[in-house]
Amino acid sequence: MIPYGHHVLSPFTDTVNAFYPKIDKFDTLTLPLISHTLINMKKIALTGIKPTGILHIGNYFGAIKPALELASDQSSAEYDARYFIADYHALNTMKDPKELAPTIRQVAAGWLAAGLDPEKVIFYRQSAIPETFELTTILMAFTSKGLMNRAHAYKAAVQENTERQDDPDAGVNMGLFTYPVLMAADILLFDAHYVPVGKDQVQHVEMAQDIAQAVNFNYKAELLRIPQASIQEQVAVVPGLDGRKMSKSYGNVIPLFAPEKELRKLIMRIVTNSQGVEEPKDPETSQIFLLYKLFAAAEEQAALAARYREGGMGWGEAKEELFRVVNRELSPLRARYDELMADPAGLDAILERGAEKARPIAAATVARLRKAAGID
Ligand code: TRP
Repeated sequence: MIPYGHHVLSPFTDTVNAFYPKIDKFDTLTLPLISHTLINMKKIALTGIKPTGILHIGNYFGAIKPALELASDQSSAEYDARYFIADYHALNTMKDPKELAPTIRQVAAGWLAAGLDPEKVIFYRQSAIPETFELTTILMAFTSKGLMNRAHAYKAAVQENTERQDDPDAGVNMGLFTYPVLMAADILLFDAHYVPVGKDQVQHVEMAQDIAQAVNFNYKAELLRIPQASIQEQVAVVPGLDGRKMSKSYGNVIPLFAPEKELRKLIMRIVTNSQGVEEPKDPETSQIFLLYKLFAAAEEQAALAARYREGGMGWGEAKEELFRVVNRELSPLRARYDELMADPAGLDAILERGAEKARPIAAATVARLRKAAGID
């Protein structure tokens, strides 16, 4: 028997186990196992990137850098990374092709420009893997409606409607309602051990565990690997222009690939207090300094902190210094990004090569399940 990673209990496991009692022993003789594990001893890390807006500095530190770290030279001895653009997930909220099409390209180019190496990481578009949708259909048969009722995004929508005394399901499409099933298919299709995600996605990974367990239980075989969410513990909170967390929904972002002039203008717009030039300032409570820390070397941080405390440095000067280090780090990324965006066919070809690598893995999973299900 091929061992799984450790099992993590989820709030939903109990509910699921009420329906599907614990399996102690699988019938390993009659059914195929996750064959991939035999040839690939590395752990598989997979994550999806929903292309819903332009990438900003918050995404860079919160998602892109940690994910690239995982796929870096040191980590790649341990992990096989599979990252994809979850374009069908974006369709739930983005109905204008004139908006969706460029966003998909921008986000893909953004990750590549930030250092994703498509030779090392399998990088593809979800929509290029038709098996995703076949597996989704299979998983639907094993997903209780009650489980979906408890998904945060759906619950929040219902609550909002109820508060407005509207129909509870107003504005809720089935894509939103079944969002966790499509996400489970993304994950289970590729035998992922680990799913690096932000806290808001942990519940979805737990639902993927529950759905996989229901399938495995029914067929008395380890057909699907039970994935684990891996949460980056110390993701930096990146302050936005207004001091709140940088987020598209607050409209306070610094785009990752803003042209130099725009970048400078945005940095100059960061909100500060009214302390005068001569006054000593506390670096630790300054948004400018928090941002500076993300981009500057330790000695630079210490030097600027000292100047804050001494007094004699105004906010304008602090912003200039911030612009210098941000631009220093982002300039080469911006150049690569502009190059990728100037060659859409080349970009599409990169994603297509990734899909070619991904499809046989996906096909194996679906074949295994069709066989088990009796739909061969
Ligand atoms: N739901 C994720 C988000 O909104 C994106 C996503 C889609 C994903 N499929 C996935 C993440 C599979 C991890 C694994 O950010």
